[in-house]
Amino acid sequence: MKQLTISVIGAGGKMGQRITANLRRQPHRLLLVEKAEAAVARLREQGLTVSAAADAVPASDVVILAVPDGAMAAVSADVVPRMRPAAVAILLDPAAAHNDEVRLRDDCSFVVTHPCHPPLFGEQDTPEARRDFFGGIHAKQDIVVALHRGTEESYRLAENVCREMFSPVVKAHRITVEQMAMLEPAMAEVCAASAAKLMKDALDEAIARGVPAEAARSFMLGHAQIPLAIVFGEIPSPFSDAAKIAMQVGAERVIRSDWRSVFEPAEIRATIHRMLHHGEKQ
Ligand SMILES: NC(=O)c1ccc[n+]([C@@H]2O[C@H](COP(=O)([O-])OP(=O)(O)OC[C@H]3O[C@@H](n4cnc5c(N)ncnc54)[C@H](O)[C@@H]3O)[C@@H](O)[C@H]2O)c1
Repeated sequence: MKQLTISVIGAGGKMGQRITANLRRQPHRLLLVEKAEAAVARLREQGLTVSAAADAVPASDVVILAVPDGAMAAVSADVVPRMRPAAVAILLDPAAAHNDEVRLRDDCSFVVTHPCHPPLFGEQDTPEARRDFFGGIHAKQDIVVALHRGTEESYRLAENVCREMFSPVVKAHRITVEQMAMLEPAMAEVCAASAAKLMKDALDEAIARGVPAEAARSFMLGHAQIPLAIVFGEIPSPFSDAAKIAMQVGAERVIRSDWRSVFEPAEIRATIHRMLHHGEKQ
């Protein structure tokens, strides 16, 4: 991989710190930009230098926008006009790009990526990797990558940087920004994360109704794994007839029959709009 100059905007945030740690292992010239005082102090404590966007961005081949999605419109309006022609911006979530809240330029490229995170039934080599649930430290994971605007050459360069940011990466799945928004928020957050929260709420309800907490947690986490192994085809065993009836009760009582509409483009756009503008006055 050729040596690049890479700016990380928001280098002191959660993702900024993760990707900076990984990119520092590569032979690139890294320019770190951060505006929050506490985050700047954290970076300096690690011996890192913080640059101004006005200096870093025009010098960079790649600009990574590791800022909150709700700030992306304002930050990209400031940063993108400073990029050098043919530079590539990388975004770490599809939300702002999907809802047209990223400042674009015809002479630059824009690539969106997201980690898949290490899979539940994936093989990991070490105990540390098995506890690296987020990925990007020890655990192998896939990533998804989309070319939002720009050239194939820039896409290839950006995909390599994305692999380095989330290393160790097994596969980079190329998809579109629209497909990425179906994966997140629609599939992974609206559906899967709310189902995970429902499971925790069900556990708490059992405990509140008198089941000893340790027994309830042990039972829940075991019974979370086995239906997932069955429905995702990890094991051939079917559900029992009685379990199928209980699941039908759940489908009728817990899940709305029109839940698939959360994947409709207008609903995804509305969900993302709520995510990006939740703190704003109406
Ligand atoms: N946190 C996660 O688990 C996660 C996972 C995957 C993708 N992402 C994506 O990563 C991106 C960043 O999310 P995060 O969770 O790291 O956010 P964060 O709030 O933890 O960090 C954002 C950082 O950006 C800084 N910042 C804001 N505006 C700035 C500006 N104008 N100049 C310089 N710095 C600025 C903030 O001070 C903060 O340190 C988002 O697109 C998010 O969707 C996050």
